Amino acid sequence: MSDVLVCDRLNAAYGESHILKDVSLRLRKGEVTAVMGRNGVGKTTLLKTIMGLVPARSGTISFEGDRIEQSATDARARRGIAYVPQGREILPRMSVYENLQLGLEVLPRGQRSIPESMVYSLFPILHEMRHRMGGNLSGGQQQQLSIARALVGNPFVLMLDEPTEGIQPSIIQDIEGVLQQLKSGGRLAILLVEQYLAFAQRLADYYYILDRGAVVFEGDREKLTDDVIRKYLTF
Ligand SMILES: Nc1ncnc2c1ncn2[C@@H]1O[C@H](COP(=O)(O)OP(=O)(O)OP(=O)(O)O)[C@@H](O)[C@H]1O
Ligand SMILES: [Mg+2]
Repeated sequence: MSDVLVCDRLNAAYGESHILKDVSLRLRKGEVTAVMGRNGVGKTTLLKTIMGLVPARSGTISFEGDRIEQSATDARARRGIAYVPQGREILPRMSVYENLQLGLEVLPRGQRSIPESMVYSLFPILHEMRHRMGGNLSGGQQQQLSIARALVGNPFVLMLDEPTEGIQPSIIQDIEGVLQQLKSGGRLAILLVEQYLAFAQRLADYYYILDRGAVVFEGDREKLTDDVIRKYLTF
């Protein structure tokens, strides 16, 4: 159907420590899929495994029906899987504009120009800041830059790792608005890793909860009851 990316019984480890345990998940076009869970349960490891930054020990990852779990990270990026890492990872000594240009590297050579009207209408602040060094932006502005950098490659899958972490409320609202727009655009399948429950609930169509590397819950908004939240998400 409209499943863009499907993980089936994915396992991943760091050396001897087995982190992801038979994780199965699917992302649909035009939907936001939330992955939640307490600290250290393996959320970031899941995104890194989908991106190929951590190898899958077993299990499969399919993108548009093609198996990609053996593909190199840059090949996955060129297929249209974009990743906004936890901590943002923008380059502090490059300008905002140069940081955006880095996102173009996933495109064929003839197509590497920044879609400025798209980027600056989603993130007006980046237009204002385009000549500033990345490192001089606030945390929230860096997060917006990191999302914009992922979008200039025109992806089909956008994975965001805790985009609200450490960010001031006004910018969290802006980011939420951008994600709503991207979702309603209908082209993207969005995977949102988030511990800020209310934010995830305003955006997500479907939820997975991880606990110690395994999926312990999946379902839509109605199935995500207070009991489930208390059991797996509150601290
Ligand atoms: N590079 C690494 N080498 C060894 N162990 C790691 C490495 N990265 C993460 N881990 C361990 O793997 C487990 C899962 O970590 P991961 O970062 O995926 O969790 P998380 O759910 O993203 O946590 P958080 O909510 O704090 O971001 C943790 O026990 C962590 O200590
Ligand atoms: Mg994490």
